[in-house]
Amino acid sequence: MSDKALEIENLYVSINKSIILKDINLNLDKNDFLAIIGPNGGGKSTLLKTILNLIRPDKGNISVFGKNPKEALNIIGYLPQNTFFDLNFPINVFNVTLMGRYNGLFKNYTQNDRKAVINALDEVSMLEYKDRQISELSGGQMQRVFIARALAREPELLLLDEPTASVDPKMQKSFYELLLKLKEKMTIILVTHDVGVVCEYVDKIACLNHILFYHGIPEGSADAIGKTYNCPIDIIGHGIPHRVFKKHE
Ligand SMILES: Nc1ncnc2c1ncn2[C@@H]1O[C@H](COP(=O)(O)OP(=O)(O)OP(=O)(O)O)[C@@H](O)[C@H]1O
Ligand SMILES: [Mg+2]
Repeated sequence: MSDKALEIENLYVSINKSIILKDINLNLDKNDFLAIIGPNGGGKSTLLKTILNLIRPDKGNISVFGKNPKEALNIIGYLPQNTFFDLNFPINVFNVTLMGRYNGLFKNYTQNDRKAVINALDEVSMLEYKDRQISELSGGQMQRVFIARALAREPELLLLDEPTASVDPKMQKSFYELLLKLKEKMTIILVTHDVGVVCEYVDKIACLNHILFYHGIPEGSADAIGKTYNCPIDIIGHGIPHRVFKKHE
Protein backbone atom coordinates (compact mmCIF):
# COMPACT_ATOMS: atom_id res chain seq x y z
CA MET A 1 0.00 0.00 0.00
CA SER A 2 1.24 3.49 -0.83
CA ASP A 3 2.37 5.48 2.19
CA LYS A 4 0.75 8.63 0.82
CA ALA A 5 -2.68 8.67 2.41
CA LEU A 6 -4.17 11.11 -0.03
CA GLU A 7 -2.95 12.76 -3.20
CA ILE A 8 -5.17 15.22 -5.03
CA GLU A 9 -3.88 16.84 -8.21
CA ASN A 10 -5.44 19.60 -10.31
CA LEU A 11 -8.93 18.63 -9.26
CA TYR A 12 -11.86 20.48 -10.83
CA VAL A 13 -15.47 19.77 -9.91
CA SER A 14 -18.56 21.52 -11.17
CA ILE A 15 -22.20 21.07 -10.29
CA ASN A 16 -24.86 22.24 -12.71
CA LYS A 17 -22.19 23.90 -14.82
CA SER A 18 -20.87 26.10 -12.05
CA ILE A 19 -17.37 25.43 -10.86
CA ILE A 20 -17.36 24.40 -7.20
CA LEU A 21 -13.78 23.20 -6.84
CA LYS A 22 -10.99 24.76 -8.79
CA ASP A 23 -7.51 23.33 -9.22
CA ILE A 24 -7.36 21.60 -5.84
CA ASN A 25 -4.01 20.13 -4.85
CA LEU A 26 -3.52 18.36 -1.55
CA ASN A 27 -1.18 15.74 -0.12
CA LEU A 28 -1.60 13.93 3.16
CA ASP A 29 0.67 11.43 4.82
CA LYS A 30 -0.42 8.50 6.90
CA ASN A 31 -1.63 9.61 10.38
CA ASP A 32 -2.06 13.23 9.35
CA PHE A 33 -4.96 15.06 10.98
CA LEU A 34 -6.17 17.81 8.66
CA ALA A 35 -8.91 20.31 9.35
CA ILE A 36 -10.68 21.95 6.44
CA ILE A 37 -12.40 25.19 7.23
CA GLY A 38 -14.14 27.68 4.97
CA PRO A 39 -17.37 29.57 4.42
CA ASN A 40 -20.77 28.01 3.71
CA GLY A 41 -20.99 26.87 0.13
CA GLY A 42 -17.21 26.88 -0.28
CA GLY A 43 -17.18 23.27 -1.46
CA LYS A 44 -16.02 21.37 1.65
CA SER A 45 -18.70 18.69 1.51
CA THR A 46 -18.29 18.50 -2.26
CA LEU A 47 -14.59 17.74 -1.81
CA LEU A 48 -15.32 14.90 0.62
CA LYS A 49 -17.99 13.48 -1.68
CA THR A 50 -15.55 13.58 -4.58
CA ILE A 51 -12.99 11.64 -2.55
CA LEU A 52 -15.79 9.14 -1.85
CA ASN A 53 -16.59 8.75 -5.55
CA LEU A 54 -20.10 10.16 -5.00
CA ILE A 55 -19.28 13.05 -7.35
CA ARG A 56 -17.23 12.71 -10.55
CA PRO A 57 -14.64 15.41 -11.11
CA ASP A 58 -14.38 17.28 -14.41
CA LYS A 59 -10.68 16.63 -14.34
CA GLY A 60 -7.84 15.92 -12.01
CA ASN A 61 -6.67 13.00 -10.02
CA ILE A 62 -7.42 11.57 -6.58
CA SER A 63 -5.50 8.74 -5.02
CA VAL A 64 -6.16 7.25 -1.58
CA PHE A 65 -3.29 5.03 -0.44
CA GLY A 66 -2.47 4.56 -4.10
CA LYS A 67 -6.02 3.60 -5.09
CA ASN A 68 -8.57 5.52 -7.10
CA PRO A 69 -11.72 6.60 -5.22
CA LYS A 70 -13.79 3.67 -6.46
CA GLU A 71 -11.23 1.10 -5.34
CA ALA A 72 -10.62 2.94 -2.09
CA LEU A 73 -14.23 2.87 -0.84
CA ASN A 74 -13.66 0.03 1.59
CA ILE A 75 -10.80 1.84 3.32
CA ILE A 76 -12.65 5.15 3.82
CA GLY A 77 -14.90 5.84 6.80
CA TYR A 78 -17.35 8.71 6.40
CA LEU A 79 -19.55 10.76 8.65
CA PRO A 80 -21.84 12.85 6.44
CA GLN A 81 -22.94 16.36 7.37
CA ASN A 82 -26.54 16.67 8.65
CA THR A 83 -27.28 13.01 8.95
CA PHE A 84 -30.98 13.15 8.39
CA PHE A 85 -32.18 10.03 10.03
CA ASP A 86 -35.61 9.45 11.41
CA LEU A 87 -34.76 8.64 14.99
CA ASN A 88 -38.13 6.96 15.39
CA PHE A 89 -37.07 4.25 12.99
CA PRO A 90 -37.07 0.97 14.92
CA ILE A 91 -33.43 -0.03 14.80
CA ASN A 92 -30.90 -0.45 17.57
CA VAL A 93 -27.42 0.99 17.99
CA PHE A 94 -25.69 -2.24 16.98
CA ASN A 95 -27.52 -2.48 13.67
CA VAL A 96 -26.97 1.19 12.76
CA THR A 97 -23.26 0.66 13.33
CA LEU A 98 -23.34 -2.56 11.29
CA MET A 99 -24.41 -0.47 8.28
CA GLY A 100 -20.81 0.79 8.23
CA ARG A 101 -19.74 -2.65 7.04
CA TYR A 102 -21.96 -2.48 3.97
CA ASN A 103 -19.87 -2.58 0.83
CA GLY A 104 -22.44 -2.44 -1.91
CA LEU A 105 -23.22 -6.14 -1.96
CA PHE A 106 -26.07 -7.94 -0.28
CA LYS A 107 -24.54 -10.57 1.91
CA ASN A 108 -24.84 -11.98 5.35
CA TYR A 109 -22.76 -10.19 7.91
CA THR A 110 -19.93 -12.30 9.22
CA GLN A 111 -18.41 -12.78 12.64
CA ASN A 112 -15.68 -10.34 11.56
CA ASP A 113 -18.30 -7.69 10.77
CA ARG A 114 -19.82 -8.14 14.22
CA LYS A 115 -16.41 -7.94 15.87
CA ALA A 116 -15.64 -4.69 14.02
CA VAL A 117 -18.96 -3.24 15.21
CA ILE A 118 -18.25 -4.16 18.83
CA ASN A 119 -14.77 -2.61 18.60
CA ALA A 120 -16.10 0.56 17.00
CA LEU A 121 -18.81 1.01 19.64
CA ASP A 122 -16.27 0.39 22.35
CA GLU A 123 -13.94 2.99 20.83
CA VAL A 124 -16.60 5.72 21.08
CA SER A 125 -17.72 4.52 24.56
CA MET A 126 -21.15 3.48 23.32
CA LEU A 127 -20.84 -0.28 23.70
CA GLU A 128 -23.13 -0.42 26.72
CA TYR A 129 -25.85 1.10 24.53
CA LYS A 130 -25.56 -1.49 21.77
CA ASP A 131 -29.07 -2.93 22.26
CA ARG A 132 -30.76 0.46 22.72
CA GLN A 133 -33.21 1.73 20.18
CA ILE A 134 -31.78 4.81 18.51
CA SER A 135 -34.97 6.71 19.39
CA GLU A 136 -33.75 6.52 22.99
CA LEU A 137 -30.43 8.31 22.42
CA SER A 138 -29.51 11.95 22.83
CA GLY A 139 -28.20 13.89 19.83
CA GLY A 140 -24.60 13.66 21.02
CA GLN A 141 -24.87 9.94 21.65
CA MET A 142 -26.35 9.46 18.19
CA GLN A 143 -23.40 11.37 16.77
CA ARG A 144 -21.02 8.93 18.48
CA VAL A 145 -22.92 6.04 16.97
CA PHE A 146 -22.51 7.62 13.54
CA ILE A 147 -18.78 7.86 14.18
CA ALA A 148 -18.79 4.21 15.24
CA ARG A 149 -20.54 3.42 11.98
CA ALA A 150 -17.68 5.11 10.09
CA LEU A 151 -15.10 3.27 12.23
CA ALA A 152 -16.77 -0.10 11.77
CA ARG A 153 -15.28 -0.09 8.29
CA GLU A 154 -11.85 -0.16 9.93
CA PRO A 155 -10.85 2.73 7.68
CA GLU A 156 -7.40 3.95 6.74
CA LEU A 157 -8.88 7.38 5.97
CA LEU A 158 -11.64 8.92 8.07
CA LEU A 159 -13.71 11.79 6.64
CA LEU A 160 -15.81 13.76 9.12
CA ASP A 161 -18.12 16.50 7.89
CA GLU A 162 -18.90 18.84 10.78
CA PRO A 163 -19.21 16.10 13.38
CA THR A 164 -19.54 18.35 16.43
CA ALA A 165 -22.54 20.34 15.25
CA SER A 166 -24.86 18.88 17.91
CA VAL A 167 -22.33 18.08 20.59
CA ASP A 168 -22.10 20.04 23.83
CA PRO A 169 -18.75 21.62 24.87
CA LYS A 170 -17.87 18.87 27.35
CA MET A 171 -18.64 16.11 24.88
CA GLN A 172 -16.77 18.07 22.23
CA LYS A 173 -13.58 17.91 24.24
CA SER A 174 -13.85 14.17 24.71
CA PHE A 175 -14.77 13.88 21.06
CA TYR A 176 -11.57 15.64 19.96
CA GLU A 177 -9.61 13.51 22.37
CA LEU A 178 -11.14 10.49 20.71
CA LEU A 179 -9.93 11.81 17.37
CA LEU A 180 -6.39 12.18 18.73
CA LYS A 181 -6.52 8.53 19.74
CA LEU A 182 -7.87 7.50 16.33
CA LYS A 183 -5.17 9.47 14.59
CA GLU A 184 -2.62 6.93 15.80
CA LYS A 185 -4.30 4.39 13.57
CA MET A 186 -5.60 6.36 10.60
CA THR A 187 -5.53 9.57 8.61
CA ILE A 188 -8.28 12.04 9.43
CA ILE A 189 -9.90 14.90 7.54
CA LEU A 190 -12.22 16.98 9.67
CA VAL A 191 -14.48 19.62 8.14
CA THR A 192 -15.44 22.16 10.75
CA HIS A 193 -16.34 25.76 11.45
CA ASP A 194 -14.83 25.46 14.89
CA VAL A 195 -11.59 27.28 14.05
CA GLY A 196 -10.51 27.88 17.64
CA VAL A 197 -10.76 24.30 18.83
CA VAL A 198 -9.23 22.97 15.69
CA CYS A 199 -5.88 24.65 16.24
CA GLU A 200 -5.52 22.80 19.51
CA TYR A 201 -5.86 19.37 17.99
CA VAL A 202 -5.02 19.17 14.30
CA ASP A 203 -1.62 19.01 12.59
CA LYS A 204 -2.59 20.72 9.41
CA ILE A 205 -5.19 23.16 8.29
CA ALA A 206 -6.58 24.07 4.90
CA CYS A 207 -9.10 26.72 3.93
CA LEU A 208 -11.48 25.95 1.13
CA ASN A 209 -13.44 28.58 -0.71
CA HIS A 210 -13.64 26.98 -4.17
CA ILE A 211 -9.86 27.27 -4.17
CA LEU A 212 -7.93 25.44 -1.50
CA PHE A 213 -5.33 27.24 0.57
CA TYR A 214 -3.17 24.76 2.34
CA HIS A 215 -1.44 26.06 5.44
CA GLY A 216 0.32 23.10 6.92
CA ILE A 217 0.57 23.66 10.63
CA PRO A 218 -2.09 26.01 11.97
CA GLU A 219 0.06 28.63 13.68
CA GLY A 220 0.64 31.87 11.86
CA SER A 221 -1.93 31.26 9.19
CA ALA A 222 -4.51 33.70 10.49
CA ASP A 223 -4.07 36.17 7.65
CA ALA A 224 -4.70 33.67 4.92
CA ILE A 225 -7.64 32.23 6.82
CA GLY A 226 -9.07 35.71 7.09
CA LYS A 227 -8.78 36.16 3.35
CA THR A 228 -10.56 32.92 2.67
CA TYR A 229 -13.42 33.81 4.93
CA ASN A 230 -13.45 37.41 3.82
CA CYS A 231 -13.42 38.51 7.41
CA PRO A 232 -10.66 39.46 9.77
CA ILE A 233 -9.34 36.88 12.13
CA ASP A 234 -7.49 37.37 15.38
CA ILE A 235 -4.56 35.32 16.41
CA ILE A 236 -4.79 31.61 16.08
CA GLY A 237 -2.38 29.59 18.13
CA HIS A 238 -2.03 26.33 19.97
CA GLY A 239 -3.79 26.30 23.28
CA ILE A 240 -3.95 30.08 23.63
CA PRO A 241 -7.40 31.35 24.48
CA HIS A 242 -8.36 33.71 21.72
CA ARG A 243 -11.17 35.31 19.88
CA VAL A 244 -11.23 34.04 16.35
CA PHE A 245 -13.20 36.63 14.50
CA LYS A 246 -12.85 40.35 14.84
CA LYS A 247 -15.96 42.39 14.42
CA HIS A 248 -17.06 42.75 10.84
CA GLU A 249 -16.87 46.30 9.57
N1 LIG B 1 -26.47 18.40 -5.37
C1 LIG B 1 -26.27 19.69 -5.60
N2 LIG B 1 -26.99 20.37 -6.54
C2 LIG B 1 -26.77 21.67 -6.80
N3 LIG B 1 -25.86 22.42 -6.15
C3 LIG B 1 -25.12 21.81 -5.19
C4 LIG B 1 -25.30 20.43 -4.87
N4 LIG B 1 -24.42 20.11 -3.89
C5 LIG B 1 -23.75 21.25 -3.61
N5 LIG B 1 -24.17 22.27 -4.40
C6 LIG B 1 -23.64 23.65 -4.39
O1 LIG B 1 -22.24 23.57 -4.38
C7 LIG B 1 -21.68 24.56 -3.53
C8 LIG B 1 -20.78 23.91 -2.52
O2 LIG B 1 -21.56 23.15 -1.62
P1 LIG B 1 -20.92 22.32 -0.42
O3 LIG B 1 -22.03 21.57 0.21
O4 LIG B 1 -19.76 21.55 -0.92
O5 LIG B 1 -20.42 23.50 0.53
P2 LIG B 1 -19.81 23.42 2.01
O6 LIG B 1 -18.47 24.10 1.96
O7 LIG B 1 -19.86 22.04 2.51
O8 LIG B 1 -20.80 24.37 2.83
P3 LIG B 1 -21.36 24.27 4.36
O9 LIG B 1 -20.32 24.91 5.22
O10 LIG B 1 -22.60 25.07 4.30
O11 LIG B 1 -21.60 22.84 4.66
C9 LIG B 1 -22.88 25.33 -2.95
O12 LIG B 1 -23.06 26.49 -3.67
C10 LIG B 1 -24.02 24.37 -3.13
O13 LIG B 1 -25.22 25.07 -3.27
MG1 LIG C 1 -20.87 21.11 3.97
